[in-house]
Amino acid sequence: MLNAKIAGLGHYVPKQVVTNADLEKIIDTTDAWIVERTGIKERRWADVPEESTSFMGAQAAKAALAQAGLQESDVDCVIFATLSSDYFFPGSACVVQNFMEFSGNIPAYDIRIQCSGFVYGLQMADSFIKSGLYKCILLIGAEIQSTSLNKTTAGRDTAVIFGDGAGAAVLIPSENEKEGILATSVHAEGKYAKELWCEGPTPLDKVRMTLESIESGKHFPYMNGRYVFKHAVTRFPEVLKESLEKAGKTVDDLDWFIPHQANLRITEAVGNQLGISPAKVISNIHKYGNTTAASIPIAWSEAVLDGRIKRGDLVGIAAFGAGFTWGSVIVRY
Ligand code: UT7
Repeated sequence: MLNAKIAGLGHYVPKQVVTNADLEKIIDTTDAWIVERTGIKERRWADVPEESTSFMGAQAAKAALAQAGLQESDVDCVIFATLSSDYFFPGSACVVQNFMEFSGNIPAYDIRIQCSGFVYGLQMADSFIKSGLYKCILLIGAEIQSTSLNKTTAGRDTAVIFGDGAGAAVLIPSENEKEGILATSVHAEGKYAKELWCEGPTPLDKVRMTLESIESGKHFPYMNGRYVFKHAVTRFPEVLKESLEKAGKTVDDLDWFIPHQANLRITEAVGNQLGISPAKVISNIHKYGNTTAASIPIAWSEAVLDGRIKRGDLVGIAAFGAGFTWGSVIVRY
């Protein structure tokens, strides 16, 4: 059986840095509150329309391919995880083709699984490679949150948390069953959809976008923060253990743990519950905030570039987010 190996990783973040002090000027909030409750010090906001979700995804993808020593023409499938596609349709996996030189009309999958999108994408890519269907998969997680946020005091719980960015991985087959993706687990519980959601614009309104729906704020994300927090700190450890068991590994075998960067308090609580030393937990939320489907590949790519994560290391990845959705991957990088 073939395993899916990570041939390369890359990331791209917008140039514009928005600090907590910048937010203090437009929202009734404080740097102290944001740092204490979330660990976030700054985030990036995209310079739209140039830094679109698909543009940022393409930059991350190019970096991942360069690291892999592969060409854009080698890619035979694109999976794009995002909740903030450039357009309602077509999806970003199609639009990203305009920034890249793929060879032939390769398939384009968009997946909308919010903060768990990259983990779901890793499972898809692993399955495609195991089946022999594709041999060089580009998996992108990219997000623009900044243009969707309610940047007034009414939206301060979400406005201070989310940020923009992109990360990507190139996956290829390996005949060495001890390397690459060793196990994956993904789950969803749709009864909680409305605890973290964005209601509009929606086809359930007779006219999809009206002044009335904008005035009611349906287009802003809503998050029941405490509720989401409570579920996250249960699901992260549970699902990581599930994949570790499938891989025949234990928490102690892990060299690194890369959680979705939701909130530093969630990361710390999960690390403590699992008994993972903080030195093994990758966290960059202080720089980028929560970038949803992009957070794991950005963190992973950075940790490879700065020399922390090395070839052969055992890496545990876990995510939890809107849906609710959650999942984990164990990979011998
Ligand atoms: O990406 C995956 C999904 N997302 C998550 O996993 C996020 C999960 N949730 C969280 O990270 C946290 O719940 C938040 C960071 C969103 C909020 O932290 P909290 O400690 O749960 O605060 P809270 O919502 O219970 O609010 C506490 C107080 C409230 O004031 P009162 O009612 O006690 O007077 C809020 O109005 O903090 C207030 N507050 C703020 N104050 C200053 C909420 N947002 C802010 C803010 N600045 N930005």
